[in-house]
Amino acid sequence: ALRGDDDIEEILWTEEQISRRVAAMASQISDDLNGASSPPVFVGVATGAFMFLADLVKRIEVPVVVDFVRVESYGSGTESNGAPTISWDVKNDVKGKHVVLVEDIVDTGNTLSCLIAHLQSKGARSVSVCTLLDKPARRKVNFELVGEGKYYCGFECPDYFVVGYGLDYAELYRNLPYVGVLKPEIYK
Ligand code: PRP
Ligand code: MN
Ligand code: MG
Repeated sequence: ALRGDDDIEEILWTEEQISRRVAAMASQISDDLNGASSPPVFVGVATGAFMFLADLVKRIEVPVVVDFVRVESYGSGTESNGAPTISWDVKNDVKGKHVVLVEDIVDTGNTLSCLIAHLQSKGARSVSVCTLLDKPARRKVNFELVGEGKYYCGFECPDYFVVGYGLDYAELYRNLPYVGVLKPEIYK
């Protein structure tokens, strides 16, 4: 199909499974944020987090502020270069705010450790992380949350090259509504 479905070897999480998990995560986060003195700032990491962020905040049951950061590290390849740089910063002042960093996937941990340090230096009161996927087999950097920040993870991801639901290969496949394994012949 034109969307790229023919390049997928196996679907790991369907649209419906993702939707159910996102709803459960949003419910948990809403409970944890209830009673906060000011609206929490949900910061999506562009571009990969756009779909998860949109589905997540629709189900958060407290007022929220939505913002984006952009971090460059992968380029068009499949490996992190280990030195992420922030190329687009949040537009909101996060000083004294509860921040929830929203990611599609945590791989080496380089992107998040860079962003957590950055938000802490801007005076965030807490920094939580909410990621759809976590690939612990690939972790190189362990990040620490800030203040009362919590870690929310949708699914533990096996060590395959996955695309869809925001995740890309060479900027493609982000619009697939599910997460699947890319056929190796596509990137070899
Ligand atoms: C991917 C993914 C995470 C990051 C995780 O983004 O969306 O942001 O890599 O990898 P790490 O834990 O090794 O840092 P990418 O840099 O490919 O940009 P994109 O979101 O625009 O695809
Ligand atoms: Mn990303
Ligand atoms: Mg990418």
